[in-house]
Formats: sequence, C-alpha cells, structure tokens
Amino acid sequence: MDLKTYLKERCALVDATLNGYLPPENELPSSLHKAMRYSVFAGGKRVRPILMLAACEAVGGAIEQAMPAACAMEMIHTYSLIHDDLPAMDDDDFRRGTPTNHKVFGEATAILAGDALLTQAFILLADAAAAADVDPERRLQVIREIAGCAGSRGMVGGQVVDMESEGQPEIDLATVQYIHTHKTGALIKAAVKAGAILGGADESGIAAITRYGEACGLAFQVADDILDIEGTTEEIGKDAGSDQARGKATYPAVLGLAESKRHAADLTDTAINALAPFGDKAEPLKEIARYIVYRKN
Ligand code: IPE
Ligand code: IPE
Ligand code: MG
Ligand code: MG
Ligand code: MG
Repeated sequence: MDLKTYLKERCALVDATLNGYLPPENELPSSLHKAMRYSVFAGGKRVRPILMLAACEAVGGAIEQAMPAACAMEMIHTYSLIHDDLPAMDDDDFRRGTPTNHKVFGEATAILAGDALLTQAFILLADAAAAADVDPERRLQVIREIAGCAGSRGMVGGQVVDMESEGQPEIDLATVQYIHTHKTGALIKAAVKAGAILGGADESGIAAITRYGEACGLAFQVADDILDIEGTTEEIGKDAGSDQARGKATYPAVLGLAESKRHAADLTDTAINALAPFGDKAEPLKEIARYIVYRKN
C-alpha cells in the first residue's frame, strides 16, 4: 500500500467531518469558536483518528461506525496540545507550524478553548444520531474508555508527572515510562481500542488491538522526544530543543539517543506482532506503526 496517499486521504476525510462537528466561527461567542477552530485546523497529522478508523477496519468494521468517535479523539488531543503549550506548562510559541493558541488569542481564551474542545468531544460521543449504526452498549464502552484514558489515570496524570519531573537530575526509566505511556500512550491506546470496539471486535480482538496500541503509543512519544533533538522547528512545526531547554524527562535523557532509537524499533516490532490475528486487513495499522518511528514531523 502507498501509506503517503492513504494518510493524505484519511486526513482530508477526518478534516471534512471535523468541520461539520465544530460550531461555526460566527456563532457566539465568536472569539471562542475561532480559537477552537484555529488549533484544530492548524494542520495536525490526525494520527489518532486515522488509527481509530484503521483499527475499526482491521476487525471487520466500516469507517462510518468510528468516524464520530475519531473526530472526538482529535478534539481531545487538540485540547491537550493547547494546554500543553501554555506558559504554565511547556510555554511554547509554535504548534502545528503556526503560533500557539495563547499567543494568538491570549491565555484565558486558550484555556477555555481547550475546555470547550474536551466538552465538545463528549457531546459527539454521546450523540446517538452521530453513530446510529453502533450498538449502544459498545458506544457506552467507548465513552468510558476514552474518558478514562484522557483523565487523571491517563493523559492528564501523565502531564502532571511530566511537570513534576522537570529539572529533576535523577529520573529513572520507570518514571519516564510512566510519563510517556500516560501523557501520550493513553490516548493512542484508547483510539485503537475504541476503533476495535466500534468495529464489532470480540474480547480477544480488542485485547490484541490494545497490545498494538500500547506499543505504538509509547513508541510515538519516544519518537517525539527524538524529533525534539534531531528535527528543526521548521520540520516539526513546533519549538525544537524545547525538552532540553526545560530539563524534561525524556527517553534520550535517560537512555541516550541510540538506545532510545533501538527501543522505539523494538516497540514497533511488538506492535506489529500483536496484529497477527487480523491478517491483511491490518496492513494499514502495520504501516502506521512503522511510520510512527520514521516520521520527520
Ligand atoms: C504531538 O502529537 C504531541 C504528542 C503527544 C507527542 P502529534 O505529533 O500527533 O501532533 P499533531 O496532532 O500532528 O500536531
Ligand atoms: C505532549 O508531550 C503530551 C501531550 C500534549 C498530552 P510533549 O510536551 O512532548 O508534546 P509536544 O512536543 O509539545 O508536542
Ligand atoms: Mg509537554
Ligand atoms: Mg510540549
Ligand atoms: Mg515533545
């Protein structure tokens, strides 16, 4: 398969659907809706929604079953980025190749745009009309899974330990693994797990996809740490070298660059091996697992 074309097409599909699920800019309060749309449409890769759709198909489902939840996941991810960039957190000026939300709209609006995106995601997840073709039990399971992975036992918890570990001289591998599996891994795992649930997978299928998601989720953040060192601001669309400047707990800081790369490659193998039960239908998931560690942005 041609992954580049695949990602481009799926990205366009997700973008068009997201557009319909977000309040228009001219709806009051206009400044808030502008700020929400600004960050969502600043040019993200849409990895999480694309993974959710691919997981849904890998288990025999149709992408329409997962599309609303995939868009909800991108709203939650975008909210996490807006808050991650705030002066009280990573204090970054660039995101997705443009100035960060708070640089354009001010801190208060940026905080509230993040809050509103998180809330909008759950409106979408609960909207019966948006996923009428999925069993209500499965939709509830997905809401529970996504909320759990976004909250204090998932992404938000990881962000807290990330902050608390800043500037600490002796961070061990277990701590950085906790940070990465939570701040980034949790939403990626939730994305693929939700895709499998919505696509109608049985327990063993959901478990296999979850193993894939855990390995890919950790690999994604290890690759992000490596890109922060090896990429340029222009390539990655956000401030390069930000981690070292802030004394962040990263894989390269704990293991070194070469060992971090080996670890990321091992995680890719683990992810791909978990896909064995799905045969050819999992080809896109396999390609995406490889892409996660060789990507340049
Ligand atoms: C960046 O995520 C933040 C992390 C969790 C590492 P992405 O690399 O998916 O960013 P976008 O969505 O493409 O901007
Ligand atoms: C981001 O980790 C995790 C979340 C946004 C939840 P980073 O702080 O490393 O992400 P970037 O590098 O700013 O995208
Ligand atoms: Mg951060
Ligand atoms: Mg950051
Ligand atoms: Mg980073």
